[in-house]
Amino acid sequence: MSIDVSDMLARSPLFGELARDELAALGAAAQRLDFARDEVIFSMNEAPDGLYVVARGRVKVCVPTAAGKELILATLGPGEVFGEMALLDDAPRSASVVAQLPTTAYRLRRSDFSRLLEEHPSIARKLLMEMSQRLRRANAQVESLVSLDVVGRLARFFIDLARQHGQLLGNGWVAVRRPTHQDIAASIGATRETVTRLIAELEQRGLIVNDGKMTYLREENLGRE
Ligand code: CMP
Repeated sequence: MSIDVSDMLARSPLFGELARDELAALGAAAQRLDFARDEVIFSMNEAPDGLYVVARGRVKVCVPTAAGKELILATLGPGEVFGEMALLDDAPRSASVVAQLPTTAYRLRRSDFSRLLEEHPSIARKLLMEMSQRLRRANAQVESLVSLDVVGRLARFFIDLARQHGQLLGNGWVAVRRPTHQDIAASIGATRETVTRLIAELEQRGLIVNDGKMTYLREENLGRE
């Protein structure tokens, strides 16, 4: 699939304000990478090789738990960046990033990323804003892991997924591509079997509608302002 890298960067919240020629220069310096579903983009503790911008698809950010399972900390979609942390704190990768759907990403060199931050304070500001939002989501995930039962965590998972990645259909419904039951389980600290059983329960209660690979939620249930 052909993607115009400058257009893609222009739509990304982080780079959207750059002038046309700057976007073109950044796009020319970026390396396009395509990943199949479940392909590892990089692994936790590796030395960083740049900053990634998602052009298409969705990635999951995961860490291993002490019990040897996978915990999914976050998922990121088109326009979002990942791999900034290890560049900013000069440490190894804090987590692994794996394609959750077929994904295209562009990789910027560390030197290009550093120059952008120095030359464009607005990019640094937006990155801080994005990192604050990620910290809020991570806080909410911790809170939900310790205070909600599994069905509550699952309901909140779908609401967050739809808020973050959902597409408004204009008829009161929001559509979102559903992760595998295994990935949902790894996001909410449950087993795959429990997730399968509780998804059926949420459907019976009319809170979600599943059709093929998509899940639909009522917009009014997302609690957006
Ligand atoms: P880095 O540490 O370079 O490599 C792993 C990346 O995953 C990290 O940069 C961030 O881009 C991303 N990441 C790590 N933790 C989170 C989180 N809690 N929420 C969203 N993204 C994260």
